[in-house]
Amino acid sequence: DSEEMISITFVGKDGEEKDIKVPVGMSMLEAAHENDIELEGKVYNSIFYSLILCFYVMSGACEGSLACSTCHVIVMDMEYYNKLEDPADEENDMLDLAFGLTETSRLGCQVIAKPELNGMRLAIPAATRNFAVDGYVPKPH
Ligand code: FES
Repeated sequence: DSEEMISITFVGKDGEEKDIKVPVGMSMLEAAHENDIELEGKVYNSIFYSLILCFYVMSGACEGSLACSTCHVIVMDMEYYNKLEDPADEENDMLDLAFGLTETSRLGCQVIAKPELNGMRLAIPAATRNFAVDGYVPKPH
């Protein structure tokens, strides 16, 4: 079949890395879910336990409808960041709510695999689990 795959590396908060193959057209959120093995009911025993768990907890609370920011990822190389489509206003608004926002932050549900992104590395922010982080007060709108 003609499905084209690219390589993406997810880097967890402890620096552990997971290389995955992502079909062109799939969002990074979906790709993460697909590679999380099964999200429910499975005994995790890989060294990627914390990475997977962290995705499970943080990812895709709104399932890609730009209503959460739990899918926040950090593009590790500016070169790749610059290859992404510009974020829509809705994405920027959600990113404003993300903990640990960086210059190369994006929402994983809005980053769609395309050939130019082959080799991209995405860091999972260390403290992005939810809004209950100590001392975090969401910006008023
Ligand atoms: Fe909610 Fe991406 S999954 S904004």
